[in-house]
Amino acid sequence: MNQILDEQAPATAIQRADYSAPAWWVDSVDLCFDLDPIKTRVLNKMKLRRNTDLPVQALRLDGEELNLARVLVNGQGSTFKMDGNQLVLSNLPDECELEIFTTTCPSKNTKLMGLYVSNDSFFTQCEAEGFRRITYFLDRPDVMAMYSVTLRADKAKYPVLLSNGNLVDSGDLEGGRHFAKWVDPHKKPCYLFALVAGQLVCREQRITTRAGKDHTLQIYVRSGDLDKTEHAMNSLIHSVAWDEARFGLPLDLERFMIVATSDFNMGAMENKGLNIFNTKYVLASQATATDVDFSNIESVVGHEYFHNWTGNRITCRDWFQLSLKEGLTVFRDQEFSTDLAGTASARAVKRIEDVRVLRTNQFPEDAGPMAHPVRPDSYVEISNFYTVTIYEKGAEVVRMYQTLVGRAGFEKGITLYFERHDGNAVTCDDFAQAIADANPSSVLPSLLPQFKRWYSQAGTPRVSAQGVFDAASQTYTLTFSQHCAATPGQTEKLPFVIPVVLGLLDANGNDLPLQLEGQDEIHTGSQRLVLTEASQSFCFTGVNAEPVPSILRGLSAPVVLAFDYSDAQLLHLLAHDSDPFNRWEAGQRLAVNRATAAINDSSANPAALDAAYIDAMRAVLRHPTLDAAFKELVLTLPSEVYLAEQLTVVDPQRVHTVRQAMREQLAIELKADWETTYAATQETGAYTPDAVSSGKRALCGMALTHLCLAAVAEGNDQWPAIALQRFKNASNMTDRFNALSALVGSGHALAIPALEEFHALFKNEALVLDKWFALQVTAPDVGGNTLPNVKKLMKHSDFSLRNPNRARSVISSYCQANPAGFHRLDAAGYQFWSERVLELDAINPQVAARLARALDRWSKLAEPYRTNARQAIARVAAKSGLSKDTQEVVTRALA
Ligand code: PHE
Ligand code: ZN
Repeated sequence: MNQILDEQAPATAIQRADYSAPAWWVDSVDLCFDLDPIKTRVLNKMKLRRNTDLPVQALRLDGEELNLARVLVNGQGSTFKMDGNQLVLSNLPDECELEIFTTTCPSKNTKLMGLYVSNDSFFTQCEAEGFRRITYFLDRPDVMAMYSVTLRADKAKYPVLLSNGNLVDSGDLEGGRHFAKWVDPHKKPCYLFALVAGQLVCREQRITTRAGKDHTLQIYVRSGDLDKTEHAMNSLIHSVAWDEARFGLPLDLERFMIVATSDFNMGAMENKGLNIFNTKYVLASQATATDVDFSNIESVVGHEYFHNWTGNRITCRDWFQLSLKEGLTVFRDQEFSTDLAGTASARAVKRIEDVRVLRTNQFPEDAGPMAHPVRPDSYVEISNFYTVTIYEKGAEVVRMYQTLVGRAGFEKGITLYFERHDGNAVTCDDFAQAIADANPSSVLPSLLPQFKRWYSQAGTPRVSAQGVFDAASQTYTLTFSQHCAATPGQTEKLPFVIPVVLGLLDANGNDLPLQLEGQDEIHTGSQRLVLTEASQSFCFTGVNAEPVPSILRGLSAPVVLAFDYSDAQLLHLLAHDSDPFNRWEAGQRLAVNRATAAINDSSANPAALDAAYIDAMRAVLRHPTLDAAFKELVLTLPSEVYLAEQLTVVDPQRVHTVRQAMREQLAIELKADWETTYAATQETGAYTPDAVSSGKRALCGMALTHLCLAAVAEGNDQWPAIALQRFKNASNMTDRFNALSALVGSGHALAIPALEEFHALFKNEALVLDKWFALQVTAPDVGGNTLPNVKKLMKHSDFSLRNPNRARSVISSYCQANPAGFHRLDAAGYQFWSERVLELDAINPQVAARLARALDRWSKLAEPYRTNARQAIARVAAKSGLSKDTQEVVTRALA
């Protein structure tokens, strides 16, 4: 009963407007699995109840790549028919028990959706629509049922048998087999179902929460990996405590399990009580993981744990509401990491990092062919909509509620949301209403209808601001106008509600007291304005000299701010702004202005930096009180992707040349300061991944990178030799990898033996090998050597196309993180891309469709890149038998 797709038929789009409640409810599900890699038997007994609110309809169950053996209704054989992938049963009694017996082949499941085998263990992945690959079911999130699950398997090969909820029974069976029975005390949608079976070991921790309840936390991994689970366990313990303290949301399970697998399409999955994680977001030791890995693990463990309430207790009515759980849960994990970071400076660093992700990934998505609203109106394949728009922009929308109603008001809103909707499948509108109703005296209720345009309109609004100082009346008037460009299917946009947090700096760099004309209130420091019109003005009184405005502090809305700052104003903000985010932002603007000017004037010297800029950067490096982490962010030039977004036509080679020249200039002109910085940061003592010491290591790595760059430019071997020694002697992966990257990034010959040594040291550590591959394919493209190197690495015995992490470390890193290596004049990079997309599509459509997005921004490219890129996309689109996933991406790209 394998699915055969009509090759030519374009896959049909599902419309949000077509939503209707399910014709049947599933009250309980009793599943029994006989696990076998070649042929797993699945017996599914469901108690069904007709939805009597609707006219009588047949029961339609989804199924994919299943072998159907038997269907019984109330114990009797029954007639049914197949309609495409659906099993259709008509004339059922209003309440009945349905028994369906199917088999599947987990070892052939390379899509990693449904039940699959990884390293001889069984795992499942059901979100969004994977449960239908396990059994016939009403595979939609608004059908919530109680589950009991019996697992049977060979005891020697699969000693650990896990599913959601509580273990209620287990024991031995004939023939060396055993069983375990699990009952989940919470009803749930089928996308939260999970099972795991295999040879796994676990770290266990008992905790007592504030509420006085005892819980068991467990992290399951392969036997050699137990020593790499301490950080994930600590992150989990912190997550439990934080959600209780900040939102009053306790752990509702006796047992909470995390299982790591090395074959996983995404980061991790919040299955009820049994989270399944990509090993990348669980395993860490100081020898194998970098500070960034440690911090990602903390975020992802938090994220999945927080889904237990925002996602699982209250879930989505339909997949168009995906951001209801994802945007909210990203916001929660951002707040969690921010609160754990501690100091004001560390909190700001976290915000800058989050904004960088938003701007380098989501803003381009919102300006490209895949642009979609936070609550999309249609999709062909829902897997394509697990995007930075749903996640990161969705989190910004949630953040704006908090900005509008305040932190305490937001917490009241969350409380009301759970009072109203706990145990239900709801919509983004329900969430918005709860936040507004909990804050009746705030600005939100009256703005809510307009605020909701953030859910319906795609695209990044551009806010232009102008300031006029009037000495006679001692006023400063800021005029804002907002505009949002057309996106696919949406030509006209209505004004958004845009909270603008701002301050005005006086000549000494202090915040002026703020008083709006006609208002009594005086704000010290920052004030929050709210834009609602296409254009509007705000007049501040009592201003006796022209101030420097610090607008959109903390990026108070996901918009682009255009303000015609002079260099002097930006330097003033960089030196003094009380808002560390805008202080960083001022440095970025200085760099962007210089980079874009040099890029656009191809006759100009690409080394675009003037003394004022270099002196400002020197002052930051030498600053006595700024944290290392903050310095590292300020000294990091805007990425090539971010710079490209500021241009109308993009020549990727020119962008790279200019940015590289700027880096070299910073390397050479600040050499003495890099040396001092290196000396001051090279020792951080016993390794801990906390914000302060990881900031020091980051700045130290940056210094070493610049010193190696300067050395190569000047034909001097001293610093590469120091980097090699540091590489060899490092006591943690952050320092070791930073030293290796400094060598590889500088193109110095010592990189070659260092890479060999690194491989020899870590040949048995899959996650470290991923870094080793990725570093090489993102190396500077000297004489076009990157692509041949990528091809060579694909022949390496450690390479595998079937493992998503490994495929991404080589192919996606090359196509998406090395613009100058990828956008070749001879189009060989695009040719390579189209071949890999097609090759991967036959194995794992989700991984292929993500890679397919590497050419999203093709229409912005200069010739001949533009034409060549389009042709490569067209070649992919012309292939027959393409998955819905990839077909949707390339069709939209060509539209
Ligand atoms: N729901 C997961 C998360 O964000 C992501 C995910 C989606 C994982 C689909 C697997 C498949 O936490
Ligand atoms: Zn999530």
